[in-house]
Amino acid sequence: MPAPGFAIVTGAAQVFRSLSLTIKATALLLVMGAVIWSVLSYFQARDTKAALRTHLAEELARRAHDDRRAFDEALEEHRHSAMLMISLRVFQEYIERLDSRGWEAGSPKVFSSSPPWLARRFLRREFRNSRYLLLFDDLGRVRQIFNNGFSPLREQFVDSASELMRQSLQRSFITDAGKTPMLLAAESISDANGSTRAYLMLATPIDTDFLMNAHGISVTGDIVAVRDANTNEILATSRPDLLSEGVFIGDQAERFMVVGQSFFEYGALDIPLQLISLQETADVETLASRMAAEARQDLALYALAFGGAFALIVLWIARRLNLFTHSIVRMAENKGKGKDDSDIVPPDGDEIAVLQNAFDKLMRELDTQQRALLHSSKLASIGELAAGVAHEINNPLNVLSLLISEQLRRIPDNDRRDTSVRRMLEKMLDAVERIASIVEGLRTYARTDTAESTNVDLHKVVNSSLSLVKAIYSKENITFDVQLKADKSTVFGQEGKLNQVLMNYLTNAHDALEGRLNGRILVETENDDDLIRLRIVDNGCGMSEEIAARMFDAFFTTKPPGQGTGLGMGIAHSIIDDMDGTIEVSSHEGRGSTVITALPLSTGDLPLLELCADGADFEVLPLRLMIVDDEPDLRELLGGAMARYTEGVTVVDGGAQALIRLREQAYDVVITDLKM
Ligand SMILES: Nc1ncnc2c1ncn2[C@@H]1O[C@H](COP(=O)(O)OP(=O)(O)OP(=O)(O)O)[C@@H](O)[C@H]1O
Ligand SMILES: [Mg+2]
Repeated sequence: MPAPGFAIVTGAAQVFRSLSLTIKATALLLVMGAVIWSVLSYFQARDTKAALRTHLAEELARRAHDDRRAFDEALEEHRHSAMLMISLRVFQEYIERLDSRGWEAGSPKVFSSSPPWLARRFLRREFRNSRYLLLFDDLGRVRQIFNNGFSPLREQFVDSASELMRQSLQRSFITDAGKTPMLLAAESISDANGSTRAYLMLATPIDTDFLMNAHGISVTGDIVAVRDANTNEILATSRPDLLSEGVFIGDQAERFMVVGQSFFEYGALDIPLQLISLQETADVETLASRMAAEARQDLALYALAFGGAFALIVLWIARRLNLFTHSIVRMAENKGKGKDDSDIVPPDGDEIAVLQNAFDKLMRELDTQQRALLHSSKLASIGELAAGVAHEINNPLNVLSLLISEQLRRIPDNDRRDTSVRRMLEKMLDAVERIASIVEGLRTYARTDTAESTNVDLHKVVNSSLSLVKAIYSKENITFDVQLKADKSTVFGQEGKLNQVLMNYLTNAHDALEGRLNGRILVETENDDDLIRLRIVDNGCGMSEEIAARMFDAFFTTKPPGQGTGLGMGIAHSIIDDMDGTIEVSSHEGRGSTVITALPLSTGDLPLLELCADGADFEVLPLRLMIVDDEPDLRELLGGAMARYTEGVTVVDGGAQALIRLREQAYDVVITDLKM
């Protein structure tokens, strides 16, 4: 027994096979779409991340560069301020005065309000950012300190001020004065001879206030901070609202990214402080998700456009295939008969499977039709042969018939001695007549279809077909019951075709009786208003409903190959249909079948001979009769026989002779053999 998993897989495969191509294509499209979407999204996410990294790196590098430049400018400003300061007249005069008086001895003098050498206006404008001004004597010792309204300078700084002043002469300088870095700029003041008289140093701590006020250092959004390089502690910040002093950057790794730390190479390389740029991670994430969303939107649009186009193409192909399949199926079902397709059973499987089935069917049909065509062409040549043979037999038959009749006529009715001879001759005549009727049947059967429609006596056709069939199946034990009860039996049609119909009915009935002991065929006609109804009943095998439903289909046969073409009933139907008649078939499987054919009676003129027979008074004139035949015996016999009824009988052996005679005199009747 197969495993349950196997059964499930087989079942799923079956369900999949039975789905239509459109559904399969759509499902495939969805699966493919999902796969393509996943792959694209994966690559797209990877690319976006990479792009984002590059973008951020560039952006942050740019900002760090801007910060650095702004910081450099702030330093330069300090130096300019120092230079500007010493160039002021008030300052120069003060130094000159001091020089003449001499510097005050003792510890440096500290001013908390504006010193005399500093103009107030200048102070406000230029020293906004500079906190401390230190004045040195010509030996470089600190003599005066101006505290621009801030806390006093640390002692540690004051102690090393002379050294720091020398280091920062004519350049901006940063020093680590305690924990806070100090920005320094020093200039020397010389007299007219070029000798140094004094020194001025500007000192400003780079603290939170400095960072907040230093215009341009903090570029949009990010934070500039001073940190202790050893402890990672924030000492000053341009955005105390976001990042406060005293926090450790290591603890803030989730909130902030350190994006630039390229400062403080000014003078003292060993200072343990760093000026850094920071970025809030939330901002980075917002930026990242905005970029990712934009990329996803693009991807979705591409996917939609691509998917839509692909879906349209697939649906179009599926539809075309569907139409094509449908037409092939219809062709196979109807075999080109133009029947409507409402009775086509919806086939299993998708269009390809349907197409395959239809083709298989078509090939089988073609094979059958080919065999049937071969068979029918054989039948046609047999028919032609039969017609030729029938014609040739007809002449000697006529001779025989005439000779026998002549002999019979010569034996007087009351001659007892000749009774046995008479009986013999009569039997001979019967036999000849039977042969003649078979031959007649063969001839009418083989008559071509190009014949014109005329008034035809259906009873005559029935009789000639019957005699042919009876003769063919004389050895078989079949009882024919013929009851031609119709008074009127003239219909308008072609005798040959009607014969063909009758032959098929009778042959079908005969075939259905095969193997039956008491086979019986009833042939019956009756009139019904303007119709003649012909019933052919057999007690043969009958038909199932399926067979009865298909019996009019061309090439439908239940007979073994070579016996039936399956065309008989189809042809019968079209012939009867052409004559405005109908065919009804009722059948019981195993009990027999009834085929009822109804034909309209002819409304046209009746044939001339029948008119004569109907007319009571007509005068028989001496008939001028010419007999034309190339068969000498027949010619003579016929001539002799006719001479007993009329005097004016002329016998000639061919068409040329006949024409000569016809020119000499007129004839009432010419009896001639068509095919001489
Ligand atoms: N009287 C009948 N009794 C039983 N079956 C019949 C009868 N008449 C027709 N059929 C069925 O209908 C089928 C089609 O008949 P049809 O006359 O069209 O073709 P056929 O007799 O098989 O071949 P063909 O007439 O071309 O030689 C027959 O094969 C047979 O199965
Ligand atoms: Mg038939």
